[in-house]
Amino acid sequence: MPKNLTVIVLAAGGGTRMKSKTMKVLHPIGGRSMIGHVLTAVAACEPERIVAVVGHQREQVGQHIQECAPGAVLAVQEQQLGTGHAVKVAMEACDCRTGTVLVAAGDTPLLQGDALRRFAEEHEAAERAVSILSGVVANPFGYGRVVRGPEGDVEGIVEEKDATPGQREIREINSGILAFDAAFLREALDRIGNDNANGEFYLTDVVGIARADGLTVGAHTVEDVRQTEGANDRAQLAALGAELNRRIVTRWMKDGVSVMDPTTTWIDADVVLAADVTILPNTQLLGATVVDEDAVIGPDTTLKDCEVGRAARVVRTHGELAVIGAEATVGPFAHLRPGTTLGEAGKIGGFVETKNADIGPGAKVPHLTYVGDAEIGEGANIGAGTVFANYDGVAKHRTVVGRHARTASNSTFVAPVVIGDGAGTGAGTVVRRDVPPGALAVSAGPQRNLEGWALQRRPGTDQAAAAAAAGAEVPESETSGERDVSHDTASRVGEAGGGGSESPRTPS
Ligand code: UD1
Ligand code: CA
Repeated sequence: MPKNLTVIVLAAGGGTRMKSKTMKVLHPIGGRSMIGHVLTAVAACEPERIVAVVGHQREQVGQHIQECAPGAVLAVQEQQLGTGHAVKVAMEACDCRTGTVLVAAGDTPLLQGDALRRFAEEHEAAERAVSILSGVVANPFGYGRVVRGPEGDVEGIVEEKDATPGQREIREINSGILAFDAAFLREALDRIGNDNANGEFYLTDVVGIARADGLTVGAHTVEDVRQTEGANDRAQLAALGAELNRRIVTRWMKDGVSVMDPTTTWIDADVVLAADVTILPNTQLLGATVVDEDAVIGPDTTLKDCEVGRAARVVRTHGELAVIGAEATVGPFAHLRPGTTLGEAGKIGGFVETKNADIGPGAKVPHLTYVGDAEIGEGANIGAGTVFANYDGVAKHRTVVGRHARTASNSTFVAPVVIGDGAGTGAGTVVRRDVPPGALAVSAGPQRNLEGWALQRRPGTDQAAAAAAAGAEVPESETSGERDVSHDTASRVGEAGGGGSESPRTPS
């Protein structure tokens, strides 16, 4: 590990080519901001201090940097007068006078800590005044070129706009990552001018100054040039995002994760997977998601900040801030909202939405259900089409369903309400009062069958014909009576449900 290391991260530029109200370095890629990736790589070098140069949108950028790298010093560059000026501002903001200074840009999201650390170590071992992390690329357009003398020694860096046609042919480029002897850098920064095509103070001019002073200068060629590639617009951001994802997915496969379709599998940088996890196509594992061994996720699943237990099965599901227990099953078509916890071997089935719900071990919510603000005890079973009515229009309330309760289809639990251990409901029950342990709650009215209804009320229809063919008849008492056949269907249905007094027969 390099000793007495200062890292300066440049992030003052506007990033206008992103055409965004969000600053370039704050754009997300692989589950972090661009600068978040850079700061993670920087942290791996264990620097003495980190100085970030901010300018455009300094409040947002500065706050984000301090969240990613607590203790980072922020240096404000009021006007973007060039990279040399930016580093000067950084050096003035900290009292680093000895050791090594590493300069990096905030927009290289593929950068890894070990590449950065090796570069700093080589720079120190070679006792150079300046080291350039260079790369050999097919298309060097836009980059500063590393100019070497006849012996191959580095003479300087020339920017695209200032380069001669011959220099533009050079394919060895300055990645933008440079290492300096701190004392030399501090003094050299006062000697750079802005007499160039851009009228900017170029940090890269320090290379020529070192050479003129007879100091040692060198370049360290990075094998993996994409690590130092920056994203300037959204197309480049997407291309780097795809490459970052390809690298992450490949790494997990090498660590024992089965990925059926790497091109449609997206895994964020901070996701953690155990060996023998299987990921099926069109799956996104985002944020701080953690998946334990033998779990199978997908197809068509998005999990953000979720925890999935051993051997769980999650199919066509959207989940956020949810915990899925070992051997539990979820989906297809489940929506797990924040605060969902599913116990070991529990089940959340098709077309089920859950939120702030603690579902116990072995408990099942198999079909077409909304579970909000609830606790469901171990081994309980919730019937199809149940609604946990948690919201009274003003406040949210909790429902508690006891251990091994058995609630029937199409129940509504009007919170706050408690359904006791081993209790149950009949189909279509609206539970408004607590149900004691072991009791069966029933709220629907008794059923009445109006014999011959289809023949009387729907004569001449297929319905009536089918009823007649099946032997349906109009009861004796109805054929002689003076019943008003003009009654509309709705009122009859209403009578049937509510047991209205005009009803032709008494409920039984
Ligand atoms: C720079 C290098 C070039 C290198 C390329 C790699 C110089 C003069 N040129 O060119 O040799 O090949 O990076 O990508 O250094 N910034 C500030 N303040 C400023 C100017 C820039 O903070 O006043 C920041 C930018 O936000 C950016 C970084 O410094 O993060 C690089 O600046 P940019 O203008 O993009 O430099 P390039 O022209 O790409
Ligand atoms: Ca750039």
